[in-house]
Amino acid sequence: MKIWLNGGLHDLETARVSVLDHGLTVGDGIFETVKAVAGRPFALTRHLDRLARSARGLGLPEPDLDEVRRACAAVLEANPMALGRLRITYTGGLSPLGSDRGDHGPTLVVALGETTRRPDSTAVITVPWTRNERGALTGLKTTSYAENVLALSRATAQGATEALFANTVGQLCEGTGSNVFVVLDGEIHTPPVASGCLAGITRALAVEWTGARETDLPFDVLGRAEEVFLTSTLRDVQAVHRVDGRDLPGAPGPATAKAMRVFDERAADDLDP
Ligand SMILES: Cc1ncc(COP(=O)(O)O)c(C=O)c1O
Repeated sequence: MKIWLNGGLHDLETARVSVLDHGLTVGDGIFETVKAVAGRPFALTRHLDRLARSARGLGLPEPDLDEVRRACAAVLEANPMALGRLRITYTGGLSPLGSDRGDHGPTLVVALGETTRRPDSTAVITVPWTRNERGALTGLKTTSYAENVLALSRATAQGATEALFANTVGQLCEGTGSNVFVVLDGEIHTPPVASGCLAGITRALAVEWTGARETDLPFDVLGRAEEVFLTSTLRDVQAVHRVDGRDLPGAPGPATAKAMRVFDERAADDLDP
């Protein structure tokens, strides 16, 4: 396995960052996960745009997106695989042991892991912890993901693959690594970005391609929605067949099945929509 680290390709065994990297010590970093199909990244331009937005939001130096593109191409070429998870990580770099960022410059890592296509449907749970729609990091894809680690481990322990959060005012928000959609009276809705969710790239494409509406939704809508589905880079559009103890028999229902079909068709038409 070859990894890109700060300007060049390295073997996995020798790709090392400092134990004082601010990404490690305080979670001062940003990331992107990009799907790679047969060595070709999907929606890379949108991912790089979001990487730059996250960097700006966190006050990190502007990433050199040409270099990040070159790094992605080099890693994909060096590690051929059918379906890959390309991970771009950009951190505050070598820093003092505190929240002040050092001035040694950022760390850039691009790594790749092999993955398999997700099942067409899955189970989710809800968790009692909230997303903060007014936080300093809201909307940024930072490496401060420990809340997601905790929530996802609770989901896994309950036989689910995702945990869904409300925001601080009790509205439906998102999952640990996905956006959520519900079907009400046959219409598809998803929470607006103002709910505090990440502006998911799959979410934006699904809204554009299905005509889903962005609607403030109470968290308990999950108890009555006709259909529920998730979107994310590695899930694409994925139906939900159980929310907590509530079964949604027949998932994917008709609106979800159509969204899955449209997404697959449009994504196959254009690798960088
Ligand atoms: C918190 C969170 N919400 C939503 C998503 C979905 O975003 P995307 O479709 O860009 O993968 C992610 C992606 O990993 C995420 O981490």
